[in-house]
Amino acid sequence: MLLDSVRAALASRSQTLLPSLHAEGTDCYRLFHGATEGEPGCTLERFGDLLLWQTFRDPPDMDPQELLPRLRDLVEDETGVPLRAVHWNARQKRQRSREGVLVPPGAPLLAAEHVGSEIGLKYRIDVRPPGRDPNLYLDFRAARRWLAANSEGRDVLNAFAFTCGAGVAALAGGARHVTNLDFSQSALDVGRENARLNGLPAGAFECVCGDALPALRQLAGLPTNTDRRSRGGRGRGGGRGGDRRASGRGGGGASSLAPRLRQRAFDVVVLDPPTWTKTAAGAVDLVRDYQSLFKPCVLATRPGGTVLAVNHVASVELDEWVDSLERCAKKAGRPLEDVTVLPPEQDYPSPDGKHPLKMALARVAAGSAPL
Ligand SMILES: C[S@@+](CC[C@H](N)C(=O)[O-])C[C@H]1O[C@@H](n2cnc3c(N)ncnc32)[C@H](O)[C@@H]1O
Repeated sequence: MLLDSVRAALASRSQTLLPSLHAEGTDCYRLFHGATEGEPGCTLERFGDLLLWQTFRDPPDMDPQELLPRLRDLVEDETGVPLRAVHWNARQKRQRSREGVLVPPGAPLLAAEHVGSEIGLKYRIDVRPPGRDPNLYLDFRAARRWLAANSEGRDVLNAFAFTCGAGVAALAGGARHVTNLDFSQSALDVGRENARLNGLPAGAFECVCGDALPALRQLAGLPTNTDRRSRGGRGRGGGRGGDRRASGRGGGGASSLAPRLRQRAFDVVVLDPPTWTKTAAGAVDLVRDYQSLFKPCVLATRPGGTVLAVNHVASVELDEWVDSLERCAKKAGRPLEDVTVLPPEQDYPSPDGKHPLKMALARVAAGSAPL
């Protein structure tokens, strides 16, 4: 059953989609999207010459030592792509005892310098500790493609940047300057490496390590919790990180606050937060409170500019979410001129058009008052 579903998925991609991806310099893509192609909770992806089998629920009842080589053979037969290894990434804790299964057994999973390509750009690929995402979110390709085509001469903020794929695409697309913001220093380090791999100018690729909650408010010129705390108890400018400037260095980790940032305006802001996190500065909560992230992003966007807003929570309805973006921007005094929804690309088929990943290009009205 499973192998039949995978075979059908490969056949549906091999005539048109894969040749067009290969022709544009893309060798990282989803080959089997189990949610809509017959085996919910399973995915098969190519990252260069690595084949990655991921299971998010109980895996199909098949010995992995038998399953993985058969998956690899199917892909090689169908696509003609020679693969180095196939790896099983078990995304649930209770599967972990079987995680790490690798074919061929004992082979190093990845070459030390494993690189994948997307639209002609190179990205460092790593299969991170059990159950984690690889370095590149493939369903976000549509956003990277839009950025590569629409960033010429723009100042871009990439909030919740992870390994800076969106920032790399924007700078490669001619952005004037890109600011990547994330509280994970190790993710930003991979981002810098991605910029280097593509020969992009380091001076135009800024990485700020810190908590996005206060950082976005500071960039938008809004007061932060930290400001309030420091006014109340420690005097002006006091408190943790009070005098630090954004330097791309520094703490990292979930508890670090943002370095002090000056108010700035951008032409494009990418807002791609995780479902939920909590830090000393507050909580990111995409279901109950997207607005507290969207509002500072809108305020930090120049009139006529665009917020590329992202919400990947499946239970959030697209229409309701877009309405909430429009209401939030209006209330903030920066109404949206229009909102265009950007669907994931064809390697993520969705018969009902309801993708869990929702990407909206929210254009701030050109006539709205700058800060
Ligand atoms: C969904 S991923 C972003 C993916 C990214 N946009 C891309 O293009 O691959 C979420 C990222 O948010 C970061 N993050 C989570 N909470 C944060 C916070 N409060 N401040 C800064 N970064 C945060 C994580 O380290 C992670 O890299």
